Amino acid sequence: MCGIMGYVGPQQAGPILVDGLKRLEYRGYDSAGIAVSNGDIRVQKAEGKIANLESLIEGDQPNGTIGIGHTRWATHGAPTDANAHPHADPSGEFVVVHNGIIENFQSIRDELADRGAEFSSETDSELLAHLVAQEYDGDLVEAVRRTVALSEGAYAMVVMSKLEPEKIVAVRKISPLVVGLGDGETYLASDIPAILHRTRDFLIIEDDEMVIVTAEGATVETIGGDRIEREVTHIDWDAGQAEKGGYEHFMLKEIHEQPDVITETLGGRLSEDGTVRLEGVEFDDAYIEALDRVWITACGTAYHAGLIGQEIFRRVLRLPANVEYAHELRYANPIIGPCELMIAISQSGETADTLAAARIAPDHGARMLAITNVVGSTLSRYADDVLYTRAGPEISVASTKAYMAMLIGQYLLALRLGAARGTVDEELAQAVSHGLHQLPGAIEEVLGREQEAISAAEEIVDAEDVYFIGRGLDYAIAMEGSLKLKEISYLHSEAMPAGELKHGTLALITKDVPVIVVLTQRAVYDKTISAVQEIKARGGRIIAVAYDTDTEIEKYADTVMRIPDMDDLLAPVAAVVPLQLLAYHVARLRGHDIDQPRNLAKSVTVE
Ligand code: G6P
Repeated sequence: MCGIMGYVGPQQAGPILVDGLKRLEYRGYDSAGIAVSNGDIRVQKAEGKIANLESLIEGDQPNGTIGIGHTRWATHGAPTDANAHPHADPSGEFVVVHNGIIENFQSIRDELADRGAEFSSETDSELLAHLVAQEYDGDLVEAVRRTVALSEGAYAMVVMSKLEPEKIVAVRKISPLVVGLGDGETYLASDIPAILHRTRDFLIIEDDEMVIVTAEGATVETIGGDRIEREVTHIDWDAGQAEKGGYEHFMLKEIHEQPDVITETLGGRLSEDGTVRLEGVEFDDAYIEALDRVWITACGTAYHAGLIGQEIFRRVLRLPANVEYAHELRYANPIIGPCELMIAISQSGETADTLAAARIAPDHGARMLAITNVVGSTLSRYADDVLYTRAGPEISVASTKAYMAMLIGQYLLALRLGAARGTVDEELAQAVSHGLHQLPGAIEEVLGREQEAISAAEEIVDAEDVYFIGRGLDYAIAMEGSLKLKEISYLHSEAMPAGELKHGTLALITKDVPVIVVLTQRAVYDKTISAVQEIKARGGRIIAVAYDTDTEIEKYADTVMRIPDMDDLLAPVAAVVPLQLLAYHVARLRGHDIDQPRNLAKSVTVE
């Protein structure tokens, strides 16, 4: 998500930190800052582009040969100077930069406040500086260790103190961290590209590890304090490859980031027993009980996420739910009552049509909830309630991980609403919570079978038309699979409910025409198989997405892309992954510019 830099050595730290942060600019961020020490720590930070930080520093250069820096992508609190990192404790003796989320943020903040603490930002990250100061009794490493024990979540944090001015202490809990080894100088970064031009020798820090960095090198330990002998990794990627984490394209990198994105989106919001706590979603149980209908509005991939939401809300809440294209809804003069909830979904929070459709809700006295990835976006400012998806910056124009986070957000919302309406009992809440927590592992498994998607891509790469079918949630996934394929491979494709095929489109199914069938919904499995038989009877090729245990499909399919067995309700999250990979590999085989496809903008801010 955010970018981290650190430096200890003989040179002035300021320019090295700023240079490293600039090399992480491509990831997106909304503020930046550095802290440099020469015995006293100097923090300089600014909202907006790194150029703002540079003009702040110009003529007022920090003096010191040790420092830490950060580019922030807002999660807790708007992108402002105050919320930018580094954060210091009130004494200014300890500074911290942090990526990720502290899940028990509220309880830590309340406890610190009870003891009289005052805060200078709205961030969870600032609390870490307070905690390190509170836990310090002459040993920075131990203070950080105790802070980690107090802070739940998936994150990386980096700490520097004027009391031990020769070292930087950093911890990785899921969010990435690497150490770059120089000659008499050492670097720290969230991502290799920040320092690849300075060194090619790295120590890759793993989850639940701590690293103590000095000019002479770095010591890696478990968070428990056991020493780890980490081998030096020599990286020979070029700068472009490094930005993509070694993947050929950002899209592929982002597809592979999805297990971590699920962990981030769920972080601190869902307990084992299925209780959901959504910061920023303010409505109470009485409001939820009185709800008559849920509207969802969005465009493009976000609309496809809404198709899943519509089905989940109907199934789980037994509540009327409609998803509408925002560009249609805004001119449809919809009949919306005050006891209805409008959910507007938008990765960017800036899509003009979605903003316009979302604003219809308040005109009818209805509440509007935004599901968005961008803190402080226009949509989030219009909304009564906001559920941030926490997918991190998405660079590929074709959306994958942001879509995934939108799905997870809607499952959380359904659990929250269902608990208040009494349609989700303890048993169901627990089962869904368990299933959601298992998803990162399941998605890892699907990603491990990328070869299946490559084989399927080789089968369809020369096709002129491709069809996608499914029923219910599978139809929603088919829609997204088809859109991904169109967006980046420029291959004509169309998605439809499996039952609709026989009402016309079957005329186009001739020998070898590929049809992608999504088969995760057990209740309608046989019905979808009937459509599969109709396709086979006309010589069409079947490429299926099916559970590991589905042996029936082998009778009909030319290729099967497998997903692990799971509850049908959650299966869309896994089933979309092979389709993302399929689209990616078809586009790669066809030699397209995958991250910047033709005629497509990341965010469409005009009507
Ligand atoms: C554009 C993008 C799509 C995106 C859609 C909605 O068309 O290319 O990837 O799904 O806008 O964007 P939003 O930011 O509102 O989710």
